[in-house]
Amino acid sequence: MGQGGMGMGGMGMGSDMGRIHQLLGSHDKITRKVVELPDGIESWTTSSDPQIAATLPAHLEDMVTRMKQGQVIHGFDPLFRKVFAAAGEIEVTVEPITGGIHVTERGKTPAAVAAVRAHAQLVSWMAERGMAEAHRCHDVAPDRSAP
Ligand code: HEM
Repeated sequence: MGQGGMGMGGMGMGSDMGRIHQLLGSHDKITRKVVELPDGIESWTTSSDPQIAATLPAHLEDMVTRMKQGQVIHGFDPLFRKVFAAAGEIEVTVEPITGGIHVTERGKTPAAVAAVRAHAQLVSWMAERGMAEAHRCHDVAPDRSAP
């Protein structure tokens, strides 16, 4: 994983950035549903295009590895910096479904829950609007659980 094309960190289609650009470029073939959980989100992300359907679990594997290793991606966007800052308090499970993936993300702290929710909303916007949305900066809503 993460080695083909131009290799780790490269922009080839076999790299994690290559897969991200493939998803953004084919955003109109991606369908998504998100449900809020008390401590996170549950999402169903699918595509009728078999190539995109196969890229989705690979993208999750790339990103979960990055979160474990603290390798920030897309750090110009404050939302991604917050996701990576809370990575140790975020639990991700991925289940294959027809055409894509079912993901559950739970945060162990209010900041982690807020980051997971804001990120899931952003993934939905990127699935709707592709690259235009990925180039914007985003924030995380203030902690609603605080007294
Ligand atoms: C249309 C484009 C994209 C799709 C369909 C997509 C899909 C997903 C999905 C399904 C998840 C699991 C979390 C959830 O379901 O809410 C996820 C996580 C993640 N994605 Fe993407 N993604 C896209 C673009 C991007 C871009 C542009 C980046 C950064 C350059 C990125 C970085 C991440 C990271 C860091 C995670 C793990 C963080 C977390 O799950 O909390 N994704 N993506």
